[in-house]
Amino acid sequence: MRSPPLEAREAYALWAETYPAVAHNPLMRVEQAIVEPLLAQIRATRALDVGTGSGRYVPLLQATDAGVVLGLDFSLEMLARGSGRSRVCGDARRLPFRRASFDLINASLMVGDIADIGAWTTEMARVLSTGGHLVYSDFHPSWVQRGWSRTFRSADGDLHEIAFHAHAIDDHLAALERAGFHIRAIREPRFGSHTDDAVPGIRAFRRRWGNPQVVVVFHAVKEP
Ligand SMILES: C[S@@+](CC[C@H](N)C(=O)[O-])C[C@H]1O[C@@H](n2cnc3c(N)ncnc32)[C@H](O)[C@@H]1O
Repeated sequence: MRSPPLEAREAYALWAETYPAVAHNPLMRVEQAIVEPLLAQIRATRALDVGTGSGRYVPLLQATDAGVVLGLDFSLEMLARGSGRSRVCGDARRLPFRRASFDLINASLMVGDIADIGAWTTEMARVLSTGGHLVYSDFHPSWVQRGWSRTFRSADGDLHEIAFHAHAIDDHLAALERAGFHIRAIREPRFGSHTDDAVPGIRAFRRRWGNPQVVVVFHAVKEP
């Protein structure tokens, strides 16, 4: 019998060793295929990667020509996997920055670790300047509808489950609107359209589940 799901801090401390700073599974590849071109069209001067983990998005934010790029995470173990000096240990729910400190925030696959999506979105708006961009992704509501769990293998080969907070699309939209964002784009990609269908795991997945949306990506702009 599998142990109960681990809470985020404990899980990422265990996961960090096997969490490289690149898209290392099909879900991340599908997500990055959407997020990367969104980021590439934004010109920013100060960019923040919230829940940066091992820093997968730091080079992509640097490519926006932003003079300042910081990656923030509450897991020292995950931060230790990254490189460069632009890493900050902190909690996304109470960011250690003044209001309007950034004009671009990216947050990839981390809001599933946040219970209160409304408070999180308000905190992102606080540190963004007017006209600033928020680009973030989350596990698609498909996960809950189909009863999927989030799992990973630690360096010793053990399989672990990590708890996550499911957010409905309507909850994201309501939180963004309440925090003063204009929603510019929503994408709900599926496997297959952006990944190589020859990947064995994807084939097995599609045989069992068909072709559901697996991730949701939002691009929102802070309104005046
Ligand atoms: C699934 S990983 C994604 C890492 C990275 N964004 C990526 O996509 O490669 C989620 C990350 O969010 C971080 N995280 C979760 N809750 C957080 C919080 N409240 N404050 C800061 N970091 C948090 C975790 O430590 C973990 O590194």
